[in-house]
Amino acid sequence: MKDRKLIFELSREGRRGYSLPKCDVPERDLGELLGEDILRKEDPRLPEVSELDVIRHYTNLSQLNYSVDTQFYPLGSCTMKYNPKINEDVAKLEGFTDVHPYQSEETVQGCLELLYNMETLLSEITGMSRISFQPAAGAHGELTGLMIIKAYHENRGEGHRHKIIVPDSAHGTNPASAMMVGYDVVEVQSDERGCVDIEALKDVVDEDVAGLMLTNPNTLGLFEENIIQISEIIHGVGGLLYYDGANLNAIMGMARPGDMGFDVMHLNIHKTFSTPHGGGGPGSGPVGVKEDLIPFLPVPMVEKKDNKYYFDYDRPLSIGKVKTFYGNFNVIVKAYAYILSMGAEGLKAVSQNAVLNANYLMTMLKEYYDLPYDRYCMHEFVLSAKKQKNFDVSAMDIAKGLIDYGFHPPTVYFPMIVKEALMIEPTETESKETLDIFARVMAKLSKIAEEAPHKLKDSPHRAPMRRLDETRAARYPILRWENEG
Ligand SMILES: Cc1ncc(COP(=O)(O)O)c(C=O)c1O
Repeated sequence: MKDRKLIFELSREGRRGYSLPKCDVPERDLGELLGEDILRKEDPRLPEVSELDVIRHYTNLSQLNYSVDTQFYPLGSCTMKYNPKINEDVAKLEGFTDVHPYQSEETVQGCLELLYNMETLLSEITGMSRISFQPAAGAHGELTGLMIIKAYHENRGEGHRHKIIVPDSAHGTNPASAMMVGYDVVEVQSDERGCVDIEALKDVVDEDVAGLMLTNPNTLGLFEENIIQISEIIHGVGGLLYYDGANLNAIMGMARPGDMGFDVMHLNIHKTFSTPHGGGGPGSGPVGVKEDLIPFLPVPMVEKKDNKYYFDYDRPLSIGKVKTFYGNFNVIVKAYAYILSMGAEGLKAVSQNAVLNANYLMTMLKEYYDLPYDRYCMHEFVLSAKKQKNFDVSAMDIAKGLIDYGFHPPTVYFPMIVKEALMIEPTETESKETLDIFARVMAKLSKIAEEAPHKLKDSPHRAPMRRLDETRAARYPILRWENEG
Protein backbone atom coordinates (compact mmCIF):
# COMPACT_ATOMS: atom_id res chain seq x y z
CA MET A 1 0.00 0.00 0.00
CA LYS A 2 2.80 2.37 0.96
CA ASP A 3 4.51 1.61 -2.38
CA ARG A 4 1.35 2.38 -4.32
CA LYS A 5 1.15 5.73 -2.58
CA LEU A 6 4.73 6.48 -3.54
CA ILE A 7 3.96 5.76 -7.20
CA PHE A 8 0.69 7.68 -7.16
CA GLU A 9 2.10 10.77 -5.48
CA LEU A 10 4.18 12.36 -8.24
CA SER A 11 4.97 15.63 -6.53
CA ARG A 12 8.62 16.18 -5.55
CA GLU A 13 9.72 19.32 -3.79
CA GLY A 14 11.33 21.82 -6.15
CA ARG A 15 10.41 20.00 -9.37
CA ARG A 16 9.04 22.33 -12.03
CA GLY A 17 7.12 21.87 -15.30
CA TYR A 18 8.09 25.21 -16.82
CA SER A 19 11.04 27.52 -17.25
CA LEU A 20 10.30 31.16 -17.86
CA PRO A 21 12.81 33.88 -18.72
CA LYS A 22 13.79 36.11 -15.84
CA CYS A 23 11.29 38.88 -15.19
CA ASP A 24 12.48 42.01 -17.01
CA VAL A 25 10.01 44.54 -15.62
CA PRO A 26 10.39 46.11 -12.16
CA GLU A 27 8.69 44.00 -9.52
CA ARG A 28 5.98 45.82 -7.57
CA ASP A 29 5.01 45.16 -4.01
CA LEU A 30 1.74 43.20 -4.32
CA GLY A 31 0.63 44.05 -0.81
CA GLU A 32 0.87 47.72 -1.64
CA LEU A 33 -0.91 47.23 -4.97
CA LEU A 34 -3.78 44.99 -3.86
CA GLY A 35 -3.91 45.38 -0.09
CA GLU A 36 -2.19 43.06 2.40
CA ASP A 37 -5.48 41.54 3.59
CA ILE A 38 -6.24 39.77 0.32
CA LEU A 39 -2.78 38.30 -0.18
CA ARG A 40 -2.14 34.61 0.46
CA LYS A 41 -0.30 33.95 3.66
CA GLU A 42 1.06 30.66 2.39
CA ASP A 43 1.86 29.34 -1.06
CA PRO A 44 -0.94 27.20 -2.57
CA ARG A 45 -0.40 23.46 -2.14
CA LEU A 46 0.10 22.61 -5.82
CA PRO A 47 1.84 19.47 -7.02
CA GLU A 48 5.44 20.08 -7.98
CA VAL A 49 5.86 18.07 -11.15
CA SER A 50 7.68 18.08 -14.48
CA GLU A 51 5.94 18.55 -17.83
CA LEU A 52 6.41 14.86 -18.61
CA ASP A 53 4.84 13.90 -15.25
CA VAL A 54 1.76 15.92 -16.16
CA ILE A 55 1.52 14.55 -19.69
CA ARG A 56 1.86 10.94 -18.49
CA HIS A 57 -0.62 11.44 -15.67
CA TYR A 58 -3.36 12.81 -17.92
CA THR A 59 -2.64 10.52 -20.86
CA ASN A 60 -2.82 7.50 -18.57
CA LEU A 61 -6.05 8.75 -17.03
CA SER A 62 -7.56 9.31 -20.50
CA GLN A 63 -6.76 5.71 -21.37
CA LEU A 64 -8.79 4.47 -18.42
CA ASN A 65 -11.79 6.16 -19.92
CA TYR A 66 -14.29 3.93 -21.65
CA SER A 67 -15.94 5.62 -24.60
CA VAL A 68 -17.94 5.10 -27.78
CA ASP A 69 -14.83 6.13 -29.69
CA THR A 70 -12.96 3.14 -28.28
CA GLN A 71 -15.43 0.30 -27.74
CA PHE A 72 -19.01 -0.95 -28.10
CA TYR A 73 -21.33 0.72 -25.57
CA PRO A 74 -24.73 -1.01 -25.62
CA LEU A 75 -26.10 0.85 -22.60
CA GLY A 76 -29.88 0.52 -23.02
CA SER A 77 -31.99 3.67 -23.04
CA CYS A 78 -28.90 5.86 -23.45
CA THR A 79 -28.39 5.66 -27.25
CA MET A 80 -24.61 5.61 -27.00
CA LYS A 81 -24.01 6.03 -30.69
CA TYR A 82 -20.97 7.37 -32.45
CA ASN A 83 -20.92 11.18 -32.57
CA PRO A 84 -19.46 12.22 -35.95
CA LYS A 85 -16.50 14.55 -35.56
CA ILE A 86 -17.87 16.99 -38.11
CA ASN A 87 -20.32 18.09 -35.38
CA GLU A 88 -17.37 19.06 -33.18
CA ASP A 89 -15.65 20.88 -36.04
CA VAL A 90 -18.72 22.98 -36.69
CA ALA A 91 -19.32 23.74 -33.01
CA LYS A 92 -15.68 24.84 -32.73
CA LEU A 93 -16.06 27.65 -35.29
CA GLU A 94 -15.05 30.94 -33.73
CA GLY A 95 -18.33 32.55 -34.68
CA PHE A 96 -19.99 30.16 -32.23
CA THR A 97 -17.37 29.85 -29.51
CA ASP A 98 -16.48 33.53 -29.22
CA VAL A 99 -19.97 34.95 -28.77
CA HIS A 100 -21.16 36.11 -25.38
CA PRO A 101 -24.76 35.76 -24.20
CA TYR A 102 -24.82 39.45 -23.23
CA GLN A 103 -24.00 40.58 -26.76
CA SER A 104 -26.71 42.61 -28.47
CA GLU A 105 -29.07 40.76 -30.80
CA GLU A 106 -27.76 42.54 -33.89
CA THR A 107 -24.30 41.07 -33.34
CA VAL A 108 -25.48 37.44 -32.94
CA GLN A 109 -27.88 37.14 -35.85
CA GLY A 110 -26.18 33.95 -37.08
CA CYS A 111 -26.64 32.20 -33.74
CA LEU A 112 -30.25 33.28 -33.53
CA GLU A 113 -30.82 32.06 -37.07
CA LEU A 114 -29.39 28.68 -36.09
CA LEU A 115 -31.78 28.40 -33.11
CA TYR A 116 -34.67 29.50 -35.31
CA ASN A 117 -33.85 26.99 -38.05
CA MET A 118 -33.23 24.22 -35.53
CA GLU A 119 -36.67 24.83 -34.08
CA THR A 120 -38.17 24.39 -37.54
CA LEU A 121 -36.24 21.16 -38.13
CA LEU A 122 -37.11 19.61 -34.78
CA SER A 123 -40.76 20.65 -35.13
CA GLU A 124 -40.86 18.84 -38.47
CA ILE A 125 -39.21 15.72 -37.00
CA THR A 126 -41.48 15.59 -33.92
CA GLY A 127 -44.76 17.08 -35.12
CA MET A 128 -44.68 19.75 -32.41
CA SER A 129 -45.55 23.42 -33.03
CA ARG A 130 -42.82 25.26 -31.08
CA ILE A 131 -39.69 24.26 -29.17
CA SER A 132 -37.63 25.79 -26.36
CA PHE A 133 -33.94 24.95 -26.09
CA GLN A 134 -33.45 25.90 -22.47
CA PRO A 135 -33.54 22.58 -20.60
CA ALA A 136 -30.10 21.05 -20.10
CA ALA A 137 -31.04 17.35 -20.13
CA GLY A 138 -33.93 14.97 -20.58
CA ALA A 139 -34.94 15.04 -16.94
CA HIS A 140 -34.79 18.84 -16.97
CA GLY A 141 -37.01 18.77 -20.06
CA GLU A 142 -39.51 16.61 -18.15
CA LEU A 143 -39.59 19.12 -15.32
CA THR A 144 -40.09 21.98 -17.78
CA GLY A 145 -42.79 20.11 -19.71
CA LEU A 146 -44.69 19.30 -16.52
CA MET A 147 -44.45 22.93 -15.37
CA ILE A 148 -46.00 23.85 -18.73
CA ILE A 149 -48.79 21.29 -18.23
CA LYS A 150 -49.47 22.70 -14.77
CA ALA A 151 -49.51 26.31 -16.01
CA TYR A 152 -51.89 25.30 -18.81
CA HIS A 153 -54.40 23.68 -16.46
CA GLU A 154 -54.18 26.52 -13.95
CA ASN A 155 -54.78 29.08 -16.67
CA ARG A 156 -57.97 27.24 -17.63
CA GLY A 157 -59.15 27.28 -14.02
CA GLU A 158 -58.42 23.56 -13.65
CA GLY A 159 -55.66 23.77 -11.10
CA HIS A 160 -57.37 21.01 -9.13
CA ARG A 161 -55.91 18.37 -11.47
CA HIS A 162 -53.29 16.71 -9.32
CA LYS A 163 -52.51 13.32 -10.89
CA ILE A 164 -49.87 12.32 -13.38
CA ILE A 165 -50.12 8.76 -14.69
CA VAL A 166 -46.92 6.82 -15.46
CA PRO A 167 -46.62 3.20 -16.61
CA ASP A 168 -44.77 0.75 -14.35
CA SER A 169 -42.07 0.50 -17.04
CA ALA A 170 -41.32 4.26 -16.89
CA HIS A 171 -37.86 5.68 -16.38
CA GLY A 172 -37.37 6.82 -12.79
CA THR A 173 -37.04 10.45 -13.83
CA ASN A 174 -40.70 10.51 -14.97
CA PRO A 175 -42.32 10.03 -11.55
CA ALA A 176 -39.53 12.06 -9.92
CA SER A 177 -40.17 15.04 -12.23
CA ALA A 178 -43.92 14.81 -11.65
CA MET A 179 -43.41 14.84 -7.89
CA MET A 180 -41.06 17.81 -8.09
CA VAL A 181 -43.81 19.79 -9.81
CA GLY A 182 -46.16 18.82 -6.97
CA TYR A 183 -48.19 16.14 -8.74
CA ASP A 184 -49.35 12.85 -7.27
CA VAL A 185 -47.99 9.96 -9.26
CA VAL A 186 -50.37 7.17 -10.25
CA GLU A 187 -48.76 4.03 -11.63
CA VAL A 188 -50.46 1.95 -14.29
CA GLN A 189 -49.37 -1.59 -14.97
CA SER A 190 -48.17 -3.09 -18.25
CA ASP A 191 -49.98 -5.92 -20.03
CA GLU A 192 -48.52 -9.24 -21.15
CA ARG A 193 -47.25 -7.64 -24.38
CA GLY A 194 -45.24 -5.07 -22.39
CA CYS A 195 -47.56 -2.16 -23.22
CA VAL A 196 -49.83 0.03 -21.10
CA ASP A 197 -52.72 -2.12 -19.89
CA ILE A 198 -55.72 -0.28 -21.37
CA GLU A 199 -58.23 -1.63 -18.85
CA ALA A 200 -55.96 -0.67 -15.95
CA LEU A 201 -55.58 2.78 -17.48
CA LYS A 202 -59.34 3.24 -17.76
CA ASP A 203 -59.61 2.36 -14.06
CA VAL A 204 -57.34 5.20 -12.95
CA VAL A 205 -58.38 8.07 -15.23
CA ASP A 206 -60.75 10.72 -13.95
CA GLU A 207 -61.22 14.50 -13.96
CA ASP A 208 -58.29 14.89 -11.56
CA VAL A 209 -55.77 13.70 -14.15
CA ALA A 210 -53.39 16.41 -15.37
CA GLY A 211 -51.62 14.11 -17.81
CA LEU A 212 -49.85 10.87 -18.66
CA MET A 213 -46.14 10.45 -19.34
CA LEU A 214 -45.08 7.87 -21.87
CA THR A 215 -41.97 6.82 -23.74
CA ASN A 216 -42.72 5.36 -27.17
CA PRO A 217 -41.12 2.97 -27.90
CA ASN A 218 -41.26 2.29 -24.20
CA THR A 219 -38.37 1.26 -21.96
CA LEU A 220 -38.81 -2.39 -22.99
CA GLY A 221 -37.99 -1.25 -26.53
CA LEU A 222 -41.56 -2.04 -27.58
CA PHE A 223 -43.88 0.18 -29.55
CA GLU A 224 -47.01 1.18 -27.63
CA GLU A 225 -49.45 -0.19 -30.18
CA ASN A 226 -52.48 1.39 -28.52
CA ILE A 227 -51.12 4.89 -28.41
CA ILE A 228 -54.09 6.41 -30.28
CA GLN A 229 -56.51 4.79 -27.85
CA ILE A 230 -54.38 5.93 -24.89
CA SER A 231 -54.42 9.47 -26.28
CA GLU A 232 -58.22 9.40 -26.61
CA ILE A 233 -58.64 8.14 -23.05
CA ILE A 234 -56.41 10.87 -21.55
CA HIS A 235 -57.75 13.69 -23.73
CA GLY A 236 -61.27 12.43 -23.02
CA VAL A 237 -60.93 13.50 -19.37
CA GLY A 238 -59.17 16.78 -20.23
CA GLY A 239 -55.63 15.53 -19.49
CA LEU A 240 -52.50 16.05 -21.59
CA LEU A 241 -50.02 13.57 -23.04
CA TYR A 242 -46.33 13.97 -22.27
CA TYR A 243 -43.81 12.25 -24.56
CA ASP A 244 -40.51 11.25 -23.02
CA GLY A 245 -38.31 11.58 -26.11
CA ALA A 246 -35.45 9.42 -24.84
CA ASN A 247 -36.25 6.75 -27.42
CA LEU A 248 -36.84 8.93 -30.47
CA ASN A 249 -33.87 7.27 -32.19
CA ALA A 250 -36.23 4.40 -33.04
CA ILE A 251 -38.84 6.32 -35.01
CA MET A 252 -37.34 9.29 -36.86
CA GLY A 253 -38.89 9.75 -40.28
CA MET A 254 -41.34 6.92 -39.55
CA ALA A 255 -43.67 8.26 -36.85
CA ARG A 256 -44.01 11.55 -34.95
CA PRO A 257 -45.05 12.07 -31.32
CA GLY A 258 -47.19 15.02 -32.45
CA ASP A 259 -49.19 12.72 -34.74
CA MET A 260 -49.59 10.10 -31.99
CA GLY A 261 -51.48 12.65 -29.88
CA PHE A 262 -48.73 13.92 -27.60
CA ASP A 263 -49.06 17.54 -26.46
CA VAL A 264 -45.69 18.13 -24.79
CA MET A 265 -42.36 16.38 -25.16
CA HIS A 266 -38.66 16.60 -24.55
CA LEU A 267 -35.83 15.49 -26.80
CA ASN A 268 -32.56 14.11 -25.53
CA ILE A 269 -30.32 15.87 -28.02
CA HIS A 270 -27.35 14.01 -26.49
CA LYS A 271 -28.95 10.70 -27.49
CA THR A 272 -30.81 10.86 -30.80
CA PHE A 273 -29.00 13.85 -32.23
CA SER A 274 -25.55 12.58 -31.66
CA THR A 275 -23.92 14.97 -29.21
CA PRO A 276 -21.90 13.86 -26.19
CA HIS A 277 -23.79 12.84 -23.05
CA GLY A 278 -23.60 14.83 -19.85
CA GLY A 279 -20.38 13.23 -18.65
CA GLY A 280 -18.64 14.11 -21.92
CA GLY A 281 -20.05 17.61 -22.16
CA PRO A 282 -23.29 19.33 -21.17
CA GLY A 283 -26.44 17.77 -22.56
CA SER A 284 -29.58 19.32 -23.94
CA GLY A 285 -33.26 18.45 -23.49
CA PRO A 286 -35.36 20.84 -25.62
CA VAL A 287 -39.09 20.88 -24.94
CA GLY A 288 -41.65 20.93 -27.71
CA VAL A 289 -45.36 21.73 -27.41
CA LYS A 290 -48.50 21.78 -29.49
CA GLU A 291 -50.28 25.03 -30.40
CA ASP A 292 -52.39 25.42 -27.21
CA LEU A 293 -49.35 25.25 -24.96
CA ILE A 294 -47.09 27.73 -26.80
CA PRO A 295 -47.87 30.66 -24.46
CA PHE A 296 -46.45 28.72 -21.49
CA LEU A 297 -43.01 27.95 -22.97
CA PRO A 298 -39.99 29.43 -21.14
CA VAL A 299 -38.80 32.93 -22.07
CA PRO A 300 -37.24 34.06 -24.30
CA MET A 301 -38.27 32.53 -27.63
CA VAL A 302 -36.43 33.36 -30.84
CA GLU A 303 -38.65 35.17 -33.35
CA LYS A 304 -38.11 36.62 -36.82
CA LYS A 305 -39.45 39.95 -38.10
CA ASP A 306 -38.41 42.02 -41.13
CA ASN A 307 -35.68 39.50 -41.84
CA LYS A 308 -34.14 40.00 -38.37
CA TYR A 309 -34.03 37.55 -35.48
CA TYR A 310 -34.76 38.66 -31.92
CA PHE A 311 -35.55 37.35 -28.44
CA ASP A 312 -39.17 37.66 -27.43
CA TYR A 313 -39.59 38.19 -23.69
CA ASP A 314 -43.11 39.52 -23.96
CA ARG A 315 -44.84 36.32 -23.05
CA PRO A 316 -47.08 36.95 -20.03
CA LEU A 317 -48.19 33.32 -19.54
CA SER A 318 -44.66 31.88 -19.77
CA ILE A 319 -43.43 29.65 -16.94
CA GLY A 320 -40.33 31.91 -16.95
CA LYS A 321 -36.76 30.80 -17.29
CA VAL A 322 -35.57 27.29 -16.48
CA LYS A 323 -31.89 27.85 -17.23
CA THR A 324 -29.49 30.68 -17.72
CA PHE A 325 -29.63 32.30 -21.15
CA TYR A 326 -30.83 29.98 -23.97
CA GLY A 327 -29.68 26.50 -22.96
CA ASN A 328 -26.46 24.73 -23.86
CA PHE A 329 -26.07 26.51 -27.17
CA ASN A 330 -22.95 24.65 -28.28
CA VAL A 331 -24.75 21.31 -28.04
CA ILE A 332 -27.53 22.65 -30.27
CA VAL A 333 -24.90 23.62 -32.85
CA LYS A 334 -23.56 20.03 -32.88
CA ALA A 335 -27.05 18.59 -33.27
CA TYR A 336 -27.82 21.08 -36.06
CA ALA A 337 -24.69 19.94 -37.91
CA TYR A 338 -25.75 16.33 -37.43
CA ILE A 339 -29.28 16.86 -38.76
CA LEU A 340 -28.11 18.84 -41.78
CA SER A 341 -25.38 16.36 -42.64
CA MET A 342 -27.75 13.39 -42.35
CA GLY A 343 -30.71 14.95 -44.19
CA ALA A 344 -34.28 13.67 -43.97
CA GLU A 345 -33.55 10.34 -45.65
CA GLY A 346 -30.42 9.89 -43.53
CA LEU A 347 -32.36 10.33 -40.30
CA LYS A 348 -34.94 7.81 -41.44
CA ALA A 349 -32.13 5.36 -42.23
CA VAL A 350 -30.71 5.98 -38.72
CA SER A 351 -33.92 4.74 -37.13
CA GLN A 352 -34.36 1.86 -39.56
CA ASN A 353 -30.83 0.63 -38.91
CA ALA A 354 -31.14 1.13 -35.14
CA VAL A 355 -34.22 -1.13 -35.20
CA LEU A 356 -32.60 -3.64 -37.56
CA ASN A 357 -29.46 -3.91 -35.41
CA ALA A 358 -31.50 -4.42 -32.24
CA ASN A 359 -33.63 -7.16 -33.79
CA TYR A 360 -30.56 -8.89 -35.25
CA LEU A 361 -28.84 -8.96 -31.88
CA MET A 362 -31.98 -9.92 -29.99
CA THR A 363 -32.57 -12.88 -32.31
CA MET A 364 -29.04 -14.17 -31.66
CA LEU A 365 -29.17 -13.67 -27.90
CA LYS A 366 -32.58 -15.12 -27.15
CA GLU A 367 -31.06 -18.55 -27.66
CA TYR A 368 -28.99 -18.05 -24.49
CA TYR A 369 -30.97 -15.60 -22.37
CA ASP A 370 -34.60 -15.36 -21.42
CA LEU A 371 -36.57 -12.86 -23.51
CA PRO A 372 -39.62 -11.93 -21.43
CA TYR A 373 -41.48 -10.12 -24.23
CA ASP A 374 -40.80 -12.23 -27.28
CA ARG A 375 -41.87 -9.92 -30.13
CA TYR A 376 -40.12 -7.67 -32.62
CA CYS A 377 -38.41 -4.85 -30.76
CA MET A 378 -37.66 -1.31 -31.80
CA HIS A 379 -34.19 0.16 -31.13
CA GLU A 380 -33.46 -1.88 -27.97
CA PHE A 381 -34.58 -4.99 -26.12
CA VAL A 382 -34.61 -6.32 -22.59
CA LEU A 383 -33.33 -9.78 -21.75
CA SER A 384 -33.45 -11.46 -18.37
CA ALA A 385 -30.62 -13.40 -16.73
CA LYS A 386 -33.31 -15.63 -15.16
CA LYS A 387 -31.79 -18.84 -16.58
CA GLN A 388 -28.30 -17.88 -15.40
CA LYS A 389 -29.74 -17.08 -11.96
CA ASN A 390 -30.38 -20.82 -11.59
CA PHE A 391 -26.59 -21.15 -11.37
CA ASP A 392 -26.41 -18.20 -8.97
CA VAL A 393 -25.16 -15.87 -11.70
CA SER A 394 -26.97 -12.52 -11.77
CA ALA A 395 -27.47 -9.84 -14.44
CA MET A 396 -24.80 -7.86 -12.60
CA ASP A 397 -22.32 -10.77 -12.88
CA ILE A 398 -22.93 -10.99 -16.64
CA ALA A 399 -22.50 -7.22 -16.94
CA LYS A 400 -19.20 -7.33 -15.04
CA GLY A 401 -18.07 -10.33 -17.08
CA LEU A 402 -18.55 -8.32 -20.30
CA ILE A 403 -16.02 -5.75 -19.09
CA ASP A 404 -13.29 -8.41 -19.24
CA TYR A 405 -14.07 -8.84 -22.95
CA GLY A 406 -13.79 -5.13 -23.66
CA PHE A 407 -17.49 -4.31 -23.79
CA HIS A 408 -19.41 -1.74 -21.81
CA PRO A 409 -22.17 -3.52 -19.86
CA PRO A 410 -25.78 -3.04 -20.87
CA THR A 411 -28.16 -1.24 -18.51
CA VAL A 412 -29.03 -3.67 -15.72
CA TYR A 413 -32.05 -4.05 -13.42
CA PHE A 414 -34.10 -1.61 -15.48
CA PRO A 415 -36.94 -1.52 -16.35
CA MET A 416 -37.90 -2.81 -12.95
CA ILE A 417 -40.77 -4.96 -14.21
CA VAL A 418 -38.21 -7.41 -15.65
CA LYS A 419 -36.33 -9.52 -13.11
CA GLU A 420 -32.55 -9.64 -13.68
CA ALA A 421 -32.94 -7.24 -16.60
CA LEU A 422 -30.22 -6.71 -19.21
CA MET A 423 -31.28 -3.83 -21.43
CA ILE A 424 -29.34 -3.72 -24.68
CA GLU A 425 -29.30 -0.89 -27.23
CA PRO A 426 -26.78 -1.49 -30.03
CA THR A 427 -27.61 1.72 -32.02
CA GLU A 428 -27.34 2.12 -35.77
CA THR A 429 -23.66 3.01 -35.82
CA GLU A 430 -22.39 -0.49 -34.96
CA SER A 431 -21.33 -2.93 -37.66
CA LYS A 432 -22.56 -6.49 -38.10
CA GLU A 433 -19.07 -7.71 -37.09
CA THR A 434 -19.27 -5.91 -33.73
CA LEU A 435 -22.73 -7.30 -33.07
CA ASP A 436 -21.57 -10.82 -33.99
CA ILE A 437 -18.60 -10.64 -31.61
CA PHE A 438 -20.77 -9.25 -28.84
CA ALA A 439 -23.29 -12.07 -29.34
CA ARG A 440 -20.48 -14.65 -29.20
CA VAL A 441 -19.20 -13.20 -25.94
CA MET A 442 -22.69 -13.13 -24.44
CA ALA A 443 -23.12 -16.79 -25.44
CA LYS A 444 -19.76 -17.60 -23.86
CA LEU A 445 -20.71 -15.85 -20.61
CA SER A 446 -23.89 -17.86 -20.48
CA LYS A 447 -21.81 -21.04 -20.85
CA ILE A 448 -19.40 -19.91 -18.11
CA ALA A 449 -22.44 -19.19 -15.91
CA GLU A 450 -23.44 -22.83 -16.24
CA GLU A 451 -20.04 -24.48 -16.05
CA ALA A 452 -17.92 -22.26 -13.80
CA PRO A 453 -20.18 -19.65 -12.19
CA HIS A 454 -17.51 -18.69 -9.63
CA LYS A 455 -15.46 -17.15 -12.46
CA LEU A 456 -18.15 -14.53 -13.02
CA LYS A 457 -18.77 -13.83 -9.35
CA ASP A 458 -15.64 -11.74 -8.95
CA SER A 459 -15.26 -10.35 -12.47
CA PRO A 460 -14.02 -8.05 -13.89
CA HIS A 461 -10.51 -9.44 -13.69
CA ARG A 462 -8.88 -7.38 -16.40
CA ALA A 463 -10.24 -3.89 -15.69
CA PRO A 464 -8.27 -1.13 -13.90
CA MET A 465 -10.68 -1.49 -10.97
CA ARG A 466 -12.12 -4.76 -9.72
CA ARG A 467 -15.71 -5.05 -8.54
CA LEU A 468 -16.64 -2.03 -6.45
CA ASP A 469 -18.97 -1.76 -3.52
CA GLU A 470 -21.52 0.29 -5.45
CA THR A 471 -23.82 0.96 -2.50
CA ARG A 472 -20.98 2.27 -0.40
CA ALA A 473 -19.62 4.28 -3.32
CA ALA A 474 -23.01 5.96 -3.74
CA ARG A 475 -23.58 6.58 -0.04
CA TYR A 476 -20.08 7.65 0.93
CA PRO A 477 -18.47 8.96 -2.25
CA ILE A 478 -14.82 9.96 -2.06
CA LEU A 479 -14.58 12.45 -4.85
CA ARG A 480 -10.94 13.44 -4.58
CA TRP A 481 -7.76 11.65 -3.76
CA GLU A 482 -6.57 12.37 -0.27
CA ASN A 483 -2.95 12.12 0.71
CA GLU A 484 -3.08 10.50 4.08
CA GLY A 485 0.50 11.54 4.74
C1 LIG B 1 -36.53 6.76 -20.86
C2 LIG B 1 -35.71 7.89 -20.30
N1 LIG B 1 -36.32 9.01 -19.88
C3 LIG B 1 -35.63 10.05 -19.38
C4 LIG B 1 -34.26 10.00 -19.24
C5 LIG B 1 -33.55 11.15 -18.62
O1 LIG B 1 -32.75 11.82 -19.56
P1 LIG B 1 -31.40 12.57 -19.17
O2 LIG B 1 -30.42 11.53 -18.76
O3 LIG B 1 -31.02 13.31 -20.41
O4 LIG B 1 -31.74 13.50 -18.04
C6 LIG B 1 -33.57 8.85 -19.64
C7 LIG B 1 -32.11 8.75 -19.48
O5 LIG B 1 -31.47 7.79 -19.69
C8 LIG B 1 -34.31 7.77 -20.19
O6 LIG B 1 -33.71 6.66 -20.61
